[in-house]
Amino acid sequence: MANVQIGDFCSLNPLELFQQVTAQGEKVRSLKAEKAAKDEIDAAVQLLLSLKLSYKTATGEDYKAGSPPTEFAPISNGPGDAEGDDFVDPWTVQTSNAKGVDYDKLIDRFGSSKIDKDLINRIERITGHKPHHFLRRGIFFSHRDMNQILDTYENKKPFYLYTGRGPSSEAMHVGHLIPFIFTKWLQDVFNVPLVVQLTDDEKYLWKDLTIEKAYQYAIENIKDIIACGFDVNKTFIFSDLHYLGLSPGFYKNIVKVQKHVTFNQVKGIFGFTDSDCIGKISFPAIQAAPSFSSSFPHIFNNREDIQCLIPCAIDQDPYFRMTRDVAPRIGYPKPALLHSVFFPALQGAQTKMSASDPNSSIFLTDTPKQIKTKINKHAFSGGKDTIEEHRKYGGNCEVDVSYMYLSFFLEDDDKLEQIKQAYTSGALLTGELKKMLIETLQPLVATHQQRRKQITDEMVKEFMTPRKLAFDF
Ligand code: TYM
Repeated sequence: MANVQIGDFCSLNPLELFQQVTAQGEKVRSLKAEKAAKDEIDAAVQLLLSLKLSYKTATGEDYKAGSPPTEFAPISNGPGDAEGDDFVDPWTVQTSNAKGVDYDKLIDRFGSSKIDKDLINRIERITGHKPHHFLRRGIFFSHRDMNQILDTYENKKPFYLYTGRGPSSEAMHVGHLIPFIFTKWLQDVFNVPLVVQLTDDEKYLWKDLTIEKAYQYAIENIKDIIACGFDVNKTFIFSDLHYLGLSPGFYKNIVKVQKHVTFNQVKGIFGFTDSDCIGKISFPAIQAAPSFSSSFPHIFNNREDIQCLIPCAIDQDPYFRMTRDVAPRIGYPKPALLHSVFFPALQGAQTKMSASDPNSSIFLTDTPKQIKTKINKHAFSGGKDTIEEHRKYGGNCEVDVSYMYLSFFLEDDDKLEQIKQAYTSGALLTGELKKMLIETLQPLVATHQQRRKQITDEMVKEFMTPRKLAFDF
């Protein structure tokens, strides 16, 4: 390892700093064991202390021997690793298990924390609201630093919410509603500002789309997001292609992040290769920047210290592991996260519902008839082959897509439990279960469409205008 001098450390990332502290610690020990000259030992100790201080500044945590910083350690996403064959990154979700991704193993691999009963109880105690059924049912199952956000809230200090959408198609699917429904609930119970990023630049870079089309999809998707019920006085929605040109604060933060992440690091985190265009390689900085309050000076009055909480499905976590690593090095608080599981494809939980595969998805634009046909034709069933066998052995809710969808959208816990019992015992047939799902989803989608129809271009413009929200900072 090269000999490091005081003053060189600011260019090192946390993992490199960790390695330097470890090496310097060993050097001090061996100098002492060899009974080296006092001056030499003192100089080595001095360097060790400086390295430890730099490590703390970079990570926000004390150096602990044997515990390297997790956020920048390369994470294996792919098949063939010892934890099983689940693959999860921002673009692909794949498992061979019909029950879906093993989320407990994912928590271990990503180094996040499980949302347990204690945390849910604390949220209930602090907010005075019954926890959302997405929390009660483990649909939001993992977090980073949620207790810190609750401390902040209890101490009457501000925080804000940040979430987003990559507008890859004109129509969003019902799975996309999950983070937005939950974000709306969080905004209601905590009464905090929300920023929503539409990464039309990302979709231009990744898909076969013109810039104009990507922006047009962003505007269409914004209408769906507004239709989830967000309050214009508390919410700023922006397209990257539009807002970047308006906000020096946002661009400054992008550049700060870019300076602190190397090509090697994004290769490790996102799997980029030498033949990916440079737009993709620098894009993670653009998704990172809204995690910092100074990207929105009009909302936060130029304050840099307001912590952010990001609700999203766990596929987006790689972006925010990177962001959390960079944050202390550029003097900002690390964003906290709440992660959801994936809403499965119609064909089964081996993959997530995805807008790029129309057969896997129920879109927010589907008619009642399309919803009925898709569910009857494609929804993977955990039922048995014949009615006789089903009555005798019962169905398997753990792999049945209709049951899984109901667990997302049927709010009544007792009714859901009755359905589970009846299907498992064989009393309820697959056709009957599908009918229940159809009768749940048809009105949900129709109501969304009604609300979306009321959203005018004027309203979209209002949400997208950089402005002060109904909060003083
Ligand atoms: P995108 O458009 O892929 O997804 C938007 C949001 O929906 C979540 N999501 C799902 N949740 C449950 N089940 C599914 N099948 C499913 N598919 C997608 C995603 O996790 C995400 O929360 N790059 C991002 C846009 C973005 C963003 C953000 C997302 C920018 N900043 C901050 C979350 C938080 C994207 O393409 O998301």
